[in-house]
Amino acid sequence: MATMIQIPARHFEMLDRIKAADDDLTERFREKMQVNDRLDRTLVSFQANKGEVGHRWCKYREGFSAELIRYIIEETRLTGPVLDPFAGSGTALFVAAEMGLDAIGVELLPCSAEIIQMRHALLHEDKIALASGIRTAAEKRAWMKPGKECKFSHLQITVGAFPAETERLLGRYLFEAAQTSA
Ligand SMILES: C[S@@+](CC[C@H](N)C(=O)[O-])C[C@H]1O[C@@H](n2cnc3c(N)ncnc32)[C@H](O)[C@@H]1O
Repeated sequence: MATMIQIPARHFEMLDRIKAADDDLTERFREKMQVNDRLDRTLVSFQANKGEVGHRWCKYREGFSAELIRYIIEETRLTGPVLDPFAGSGTALFVAAEMGLDAIGVELLPCSAEIIQMRHALLHEDKIALASGIRTAAEKRAWMKPGKECKFSHLQITVGAFPAETERLLGRYLFEAAQTSA
């Protein structure tokens, strides 16, 4: 059965503003931009991570491919620390680290920051203990049972973006996760 989703008018207004800002920037830097045929869709998109252990773990549609970051670091002969102010699920940060560079990231969405923390833990913490904790949590599925919820703040783009039941389950999940890590 098809479900109709009402997209709020302000989302379209925002998309128009983003497009206008993008057009302005493109115009401003037109002289400095070049087309690089090596950066085709298969290299750039997150899809390219499907054979990459670690980088494919969490399907982050907006994320970069690990190969793209390797290409950029090699081409620019970057030796200094990497700052990714829009870190997503951390591809640029983890590739930079794999290549021996210090890397630091900033990410707006708490769920994405959590993915980065999880990836960091998988690399640096006790894997057996982590696996056992994850297995226990997955078996108990405590967030599916009635209980307290953590409220979380919304960004403009997440208001009304998912059903009330999903919001409730997220709140339950956050509450249970906080109990586990406390
Ligand atoms: C294209 S994705 C980042 C991909 C990432 N650099 C990688 O290596 O895979 C863009 C990210 O920027 C985040 N973002 C958007 N606005 C932001 C802001 N003002 N401050 C920090 N992060 C932001 C989004 O939540 C999203 O995760």
